[in-house]
Amino acid sequence: MASFLSFVVLAGGLFFLSLHMFAVSAQFYVESSSPAKKIFNVLSSGANPDGKTDNSEAFKKAFYAACQWINLKGQNVVLIPSGNFMVNHVSFVGPCKSPIVFSLQGVLKAPSNPALFFSDTWIGFRYINGLVIEGGGTIDGQGAFAWPYNDCKRNPKCKTLPASLRFDFVNNGKLQNLRSINSKNVHLTLFACHNFDITNVKLTAPNDSPNTDGIKIGASTNIKISHSIIGTGDDCIAMISGSENIDIFDVLCGPGHGISIGSLGNNIEKEFVKGINVRNCTFISTQNGVRIKTRPSSFPSFVSNVSFSGITMKDVNNPLIIDQQYSPNAEWFYQEKLNAGGVMINNVKFEDIRGTSTSEIAIKLHCSAEFPCQNVKLGNINLAYTGSTRNIKQTTSSCVNVKGQPFGRIQPPGCL
Ligand SMILES: *[C@@H]1O[C@H](CO)[C@@H](O)[C@H](O)[C@H]1NC(C)=O
Ligand SMILES: *[C@@H]1O[C@H](CO)[C@@H](O)[C@H](O)[C@H]1NC(C)=O
Repeated sequence: MASFLSFVVLAGGLFFLSLHMFAVSAQFYVESSSPAKKIFNVLSSGANPDGKTDNSEAFKKAFYAACQWINLKGQNVVLIPSGNFMVNHVSFVGPCKSPIVFSLQGVLKAPSNPALFFSDTWIGFRYINGLVIEGGGTIDGQGAFAWPYNDCKRNPKCKTLPASLRFDFVNNGKLQNLRSINSKNVHLTLFACHNFDITNVKLTAPNDSPNTDGIKIGASTNIKISHSIIGTGDDCIAMISGSENIDIFDVLCGPGHGISIGSLGNNIEKEFVKGINVRNCTFISTQNGVRIKTRPSSFPSFVSNVSFSGITMKDVNNPLIIDQQYSPNAEWFYQEKLNAGGVMINNVKFEDIRGTSTSEIAIKLHCSAEFPCQNVKLGNINLAYTGSTRNIKQTTSSCVNVKGQPFGRIQPPGCL
C-alpha cells in the first residue's frame, strides 16, 4: 500500500513537473515566436449553427469586437467553429486596430431565397490591412437556386448575382485552406488589393453554371495564387484591368474556361494588365488553356510582360489563344463603338507547354491589324490532337498580325 501510494505521489509529481515544464516552454514559445492570440468566437456573440438562423449580425458583432481590440503582440482571431452557419449577406469593413484572422472551421451557407439574391456580395471584406482567412472550412454559395435567374447572355441590363467572397481594398492578405462550392457568380473577387496570397484553396461549381469564375482580379498588385484546384463554369482565373504582378503556380484548372487575361477594352477609359506569370499549371478538359481576350475596339489600352510556362494541357479545346475580336454576348454591346484606339499586346512568352488539344488549331494567336502583337516568344511546345474528327491527325496553328521569335521545337509549327 505504502509503496503504491508513494508511486502515485511520485508519478503525480512527475506529471506536475512535466506539466510545469510544458507550461514554461509554451510560455517561452509564445513570447519568442508566436504572436499572442485573442479569440472572438462567433458562438459567444450569438451565432447559431442550426443551418437556418441568419448569422450576419452575430458575425459582424464578433468581427467588430476583434477589429477594435488593440493587440500589440499579435492577432485577433474571429473563430467560426464547426457547424452549419446560414449567412444572408455580410460585409466586414475596417480599418481595424490590429491584424485579423478568420478561422473558418465550419460551413457557411448562402441564402436559397430569391428575395436575398441580388446584392454584389455575399461575404465581403473591405479596407482591412492584415487579414488571414484559414481554418479548413467551406463556403457554400448554394448557386443551383440562383443560376436560373442569370439572364446576362440575353439581357444587357441583367441584375448580377453576388460573388461568394469579395475583397475590396484589402492589403497584406492571405487566404488558405478554404473550399468554396457552387458560388452564385464568381467565387472570389479581388479589387484594389495589394500583397495578397491565395494558397490551398479548392473552388468548384458545375461546368455549365453561368459566370462562376474561380478568381477574378482587378486593380490589384502583387497577388500570388498557388497549390489550388479550380473547376467551374467560367474562367478559373480572370485578370482584368489593373492586374499587375500576378504570380500563379501549381494550379489545376478544369472544367472551366482556362486562365484568362481580360477581357480588356470594355470601358471608356485606358486599361492595362502587366507582369503576369503563370507557371507549373495543369488544365484538364477546359474550353481554353491560357488566353488573352480583348474587345475589338476600345480606349488605348495595353497588355504587357506576360509569361506562360511549364504548362500541361489535357484535352483542352483552345490551349493557346489570343483573341482580339472577343465579343462574348450579342451585338448589343457594340451598338456604340468606342472607336478610340485598341489594346496593344507586347512581350508575351509561351514556353514549355505540352499535352493535348481537342480542336485542330492548338495555337491561335489573332492580334489586331492596327496594333499587331509585339515580341511574342513561342518555344518548346508539343500539343497533340485528341479531338474526335477522324481525318485530323495533327494540330495546326493560326497566327494573324503577330510579331516575335520562335525557339526550340514547336508542334504545331508555322506560327511565327
Ligand atoms: C508543380 O506542380 C506539381 C503538380 O501539380 C506539384 O506537385 C509541384 O509541387 C509543383 N511545383 C511547384 C514548384 O509548385
Ligand atoms: C516589362 O518588363 C521590362 C523588362 O523587365 C521592363 O523594362 C518594362 O518596364 C516592363 N513593362 C511594363 C509595361 O511594365
